[in-house]
Amino acid sequence: MNIAVLASGGGSNFQALIDKKCENKLNANFSVLICNNSSAKALLRAKTHNIDTLHIAPSHFDNEDTYSKALLKELTSRRVELIVLAGYMKIIPKSVVNSFHNRIINIHPSLLPSFGGKGMYGKYVHQAVLDYGAKVSGISIHFVDEKYDHGPIIFQKVVEVLDDDDTDSLAARVLVQEHENYWRVIESIAQGQIAVKNRKVTGRVI
Ligand code: GRF
Repeated sequence: MNIAVLASGGGSNFQALIDKKCENKLNANFSVLICNNSSAKALLRAKTHNIDTLHIAPSHFDNEDTYSKALLKELTSRRVELIVLAGYMKIIPKSVVNSFHNRIINIHPSLLPSFGGKGMYGKYVHQAVLDYGAKVSGISIHFVDEKYDHGPIIFQKVVEVLDDDDTDSLAARVLVQEHENYWRVIESIAQGQIAVKNRKVTGRVI
């Protein structure tokens, strides 16, 4: 399965996927890494592993139409079958979502639909969980639609919130689960084990 990974920052999730591929657990080809941010550490990770990189940002284009056409051109010319968002901070344009219906996935560091949506990223998510006094948080892996953190949920894993947690300690435990589980979902999709009907995702995650 040809995968395009889209990332904006550190790319530790991208690295975890690369590692699983190196261990022959993830049977996927990283066709390209697309970053909207030229200083993203994820770019270095790709280069280290000889993965093609592109720097494409919405700000490079006059409007959404030219931006999405440029994205689609790169994705289709590389025969990308699945788009994997790994800490990607930009909304995916509507025409890309439509062209890749249920073929774009995202990982979010909370149990959606709680603590998701616009502005809910990084430490803001974990701070909101702690401020609310939630006893559990976790990860959600979902298909992407036009709204932030909104598409059909494929997989969730609970992470307990401890009494003495701060955003760093909670984020660290959540991130371990992200790294441990994102590749499983991708491999399950690659194996054709995941189906979507309306909003409901069925099938076994390996
Ligand atoms: C992760 O917490 C992920 O859930 C969210 O963005 C963060 C990316 O982290 N979408 P990294 O760049 O993979 O380290």
